[in-house]
Amino acid sequence: MQFFLDTGSVKEIQTAHDWGILDGVTTNPTLVAKEGKAHRALIEEICSIVTGPVSVETTTADAEGMVREGEEFATWAPNVFVKVPITPEGLKALKVLRGKGIRVNVTLVFSLPQALLAAKGGAAFASPFVGRLDDAGMDGMQVVREICAAFANYDFETKVLASSLRHPIHVVEASLAGADIATMPFKVMEQLFKHPLTDVGLERFLADARRLKADLEARKTRV
Ligand code: E4P
Repeated sequence: MQFFLDTGSVKEIQTAHDWGILDGVTTNPTLVAKEGKAHRALIEEICSIVTGPVSVETTTADAEGMVREGEEFATWAPNVFVKVPITPEGLKALKVLRGKGIRVNVTLVFSLPQALLAAKGGAAFASPFVGRLDDAGMDGMQVVREICAAFANYDFETKVLASSLRHPIHVVEASLAGADIATMPFKVMEQLFKHPLTDVGLERFLADARRLKADLEARKTRV
């Protein structure tokens, strides 16, 4: 399973990159706006750290606009993937961008039929939004399970990118469902480390190591 960060924060990306587990990044207009930097400069900075896919989202509703933006984004770095929404215009843009060799992440996927459309269109990624479905009182992870089960029946090149993940259990369940990728906020990636027994165990090992060191020092001064 690949781990992506869902963020525009260079500091967070650098930290996860230094952990050696970061496979890619997803951004969206909301995340980019938070950073207060020029879009291109921010994406170029991210791509100077991450060699894996970096998704950059289009900001127009019509296919022509999406293609125009997507073509420009693709010149920013070789690992840019263009995000388009799962709409008829989005699929039209997918077809054109794909024809130009630009890889596309189809976003705002909330159902299996939408994911099937993305796969039929040749998207590199289909991004089901788990947390937002949960927020609406539905079972977001069930949609990921259905998409993974259906995709397993065919040879689609499209990877399932579980998105809008809000806590570690979402990551666990996405992995059990067979999602190819999980994109998560930095806070969630950090939470994956956490286990109370690790904290207790580490504290004990460090205390024992300190005690041993002190004993050895004391013996040395006695001799
Ligand atoms: C994915 O590509 C989206 O940027 C993201 O996962 C949306 O998450 P949210 O619902 O927490 O905003």
